[in-house]
Parts: sequence; C-alpha cells; structure tokens
Amino acid sequence: MFNAGEMIEQLLRRKSVAATSEEAERSGLARSLTAVDITALGIGAIIGAGIFSATGTAAAGSAGHTGAGPALILSYVITAVACAFAALCYAELASMIPISGSAYTYAYVTLGELLAWIIGWDLILEYAVGNIAVAVSWSGYFVDFLAGVGIHLPFWMVTNYNHATAPVVASAPHLFDHAIVCNLPAFAIVAVLTVLLVVGIKESARFNSFIVALKLLLVIGFVAAGAFYVKPENWHPFAPNGFRGIMTGASLVFFAYIGFDAVSTTAEEAKNPQRDLPIGMIASLTICTVLYIAVTAVLTGITSYKNLGVADPLTVALKQAHLEWFAGIMSFGAVIAMTAVLLVFQLGQPRIFLAMARDGLLPPFAAKVHPRFHTPHVTTIITGIAVGVPALFFDLNDVIEFTNIGTLFAFVLVSAGVIVLRFTDPDRARPFRCPGVPVVPILSIVCCIALMVPLPTITWLRFVVWLAIGFVIYFFYGYQHSRLRRGEARL
Ligand code: ALA
Repeated sequence: MFNAGEMIEQLLRRKSVAATSEEAERSGLARSLTAVDITALGIGAIIGAGIFSATGTAAAGSAGHTGAGPALILSYVITAVACAFAALCYAELASMIPISGSAYTYAYVTLGELLAWIIGWDLILEYAVGNIAVAVSWSGYFVDFLAGVGIHLPFWMVTNYNHATAPVVASAPHLFDHAIVCNLPAFAIVAVLTVLLVVGIKESARFNSFIVALKLLLVIGFVAAGAFYVKPENWHPFAPNGFRGIMTGASLVFFAYIGFDAVSTTAEEAKNPQRDLPIGMIASLTICTVLYIAVTAVLTGITSYKNLGVADPLTVALKQAHLEWFAGIMSFGAVIAMTAVLLVFQLGQPRIFLAMARDGLLPPFAAKVHPRFHTPHVTTIITGIAVGVPALFFDLNDVIEFTNIGTLFAFVLVSAGVIVLRFTDPDRARPFRCPGVPVVPILSIVCCIALMVPLPTITWLRFVVWLAIGFVIYFFYGYQHSRLRRGEARL
C-alpha cells in the first residue's frame, strides 16, 4: 500500500555524519597540505576551457546570447564574488564531512536522500557535460597546433554542425543525403583518457605542479606579450550590450571558475583546514580572477570583441598581433593544460557514480571495481562514452550553458545545506566554519540564482527535462533499491 508519510520520511532520510566520518578515518589520509598546496590544486582545477574558449564567445556573443564586449572584465569580477561565497559554504560542509566525496555525499548527510540524488544527478552536468565542453575546446586548440606544424585536418572531421559551420557543410562528405560533420579529435582525447583511467593513471602532486606552472606561464605570457599590441580603441564601446550583456557574460564565464569546489574535498588532507582551506580557495579564486581580468583586457584590446566568437580566441588574437610563434606555443600549452582538466573530471565522475551505486541509488554494476587495475572501470567506460560521443556533435556554447546551470543549482543546494545543518546538527565539529551564517550562504544562493537567470530559455528547458529524467530514475530505481531504505546501510 502507498503510504505518503513513510515515503516523505524516506525521501528526507539522511546518512549520519558519524558513519561517513568513520569511513574517512579509515581512509588514513595524511594531513600534509599547506595553504600554498591547496592554492596550487585550485589553480590546477580551475584554469581550462573557460578562459581558453568561453571568454571569446562570452565577449563576442553568439546566436543564443548577447555578448558582454570588453566589459566581460566586469562579468569575471561578478562571477568571482559569487564563487567566493559558494566556496566558503563548500568548505564548511567539506570539513564536516571530510570524505573525499563531493556535494552528493554532503547532501546525503545534510539534506536527505532525494536532494542528494538530485545533486548527484546534477553533478553529472558539472563533471561529464562540463568535460564535453573541455573536449571540444581542447580540439579547437589541438587543430590549431596541428595546423601550426603543417598538418591540416579536413574541416568536416574537426567541427560540429552549428550556425557558423552550416554554410560550408555542403562540401563535407554525405551519407544518405546527410552531411558528415563531427569533432573527431574531441572524441579521440576522451577515448585515450578513458583507457588510461581504466588501467589506473594517478594524478601526482608533481604532475599537478607542472601543470599549474604551465598554465600560469601561458596566461601571464599571453598578457605580457599581448599588452604591447593592445589598441585602446578596441575597448570602445566598453559595454555594447549594457548590464544585460555583462550578466549574460557572467553566466557563461562561470565555467572558467568551476573546479574550485574540488579544492574543498582536500579538507581531510589539509594540515590546518580551518585556516588553510579558506586561504587556499580564496587565494586560488583571487589569482584566477586577476589573471582572467588581465587576459580579457588584453584579448579585447588586441582585436575587436566581434572577432572572438571562436573556440580558440587566444590564438586568434595572437595571430592578429602577428605573434605566430607564440600562437603555436599557446595552442600546444592549452592542449596540455586542458588535458589535465579533462583528467580531473573524467576521474571524478566515475567515483560519484560509484558512491551512488554503493548507496543503492544506481545499479550494482556501477559499483564494480576492476580486480587487477583497482579502478571503477565500468563507470569510467560509461563516462567515457557519455562524454566522448556527444563531444563529436555538440556545440561548445550549448554545453557550457548546460554545465553552468547544473553546477550553479548544485551550489544553491550546498549553500542551503550549510544553513540547514547549523540547525539540525549544531554541535557537530566543524573544522572550518563558514563566516557570517546565514548571511553568506544566503548571498551565495542569491548570487548563483542571479547567474542562472540570464541563461537562455532553451538551457532552462533542457535543465528542467534533465531534472525530470532524474526524478523518474529515482522513483523507479533509487527509491526502491536505496540501501538506507532497506536498512542495509549504517545509519
Ligand atoms: N574551470 C574549468 C575550465 O575552465 C572547468 O576548463
């Protein structure tokens, strides 16, 4: 018999903090990270397709949205403020529930199973869908790099079908009257990384330091070299589409900051989380904001913002400044830098699926770990297919917008979770306490919603459909199989 009371109780049932913390203690991670290490980790996860690609289209505008023009500089500041509020909320939950999970785990402990499922489902947009965008952006710079060394791939195998490519599609090969247009390099990089992740590649601290140094050198080099070629007249008009353009730009370049939330998951490994986590997160956000502002100023100063609606705006600008040699270095460096971003998210997504499967919300096959490689091979391959195949066909902007709406929504729920937990579990140790609760979490919620609002109607529709599919899966599968509901999980 259907029992509404029982159902609501089930939907709100939470995993206990104690049980999850116990799991963490058993993990035996060493507390070795300093504020500097945490800052470097943040920069490693943050700088990627956002600054290398989204900046161009956010400034120029595209079929679906108005561009910010040079005022994209202000968009970056606005988004950074929103991220800083969200980062403080993330840090509190991460330090309370310091298992190397994600917002999904935090939500299961704080907000109950239904919201945890929604966040987990939503995180697919941040991790997997976000990586589709990074793969497409990667491909843009890779094709540039190949062209620089004299290899020109046919147009039809390095792009997707969109309003810009439509006019030239006629020259592509056809199959049953349909033009074949796809982004093969984007698919290929995801396939290669998937194989590496299945056999068990590990990101080492040394690799991360190398990537961080490379990213900083590329970005600072771009600013230093490009500054000599800035023509101030390109900054007029500064805000061609006014406040609306600036906010639309902010909602797009939010993508460039995604990744700072990954830093909060180091709570268990930080020497002094209360002090070093906020320092690390705010420092990495501040450094990236300053760099992003400088890059945007130089980019829109070298060439008119109208020329930047491409997947590789930084090399386009460098070529315009006749810095071909640097454009070559930039495309190669961007390829390496974005490979690292792809790796982080391609590694993270299967582990979120794994956590959900262990809780019974996804089928048991998703919790399988390879007997020899000790990696979650099933979910790694599923993630590879789910990212690689759409990367063949999807448009960069559409994917970025979809990622942003989902990630912003997850941030809203996490921020709400901080307030809820202060009431429901006030005595629990909080190695890091978000300052100014409830004002800061409320500001975080308001800012995230303000960044969601300018996203196009079609993105909202896609998001609603995505959530609806999530609900259907939960009620037909997760609700029935939840280990917490069946009394198989420790409470
Ligand atoms: N912030 C990451 C990037 O821009 C996701 O690639």
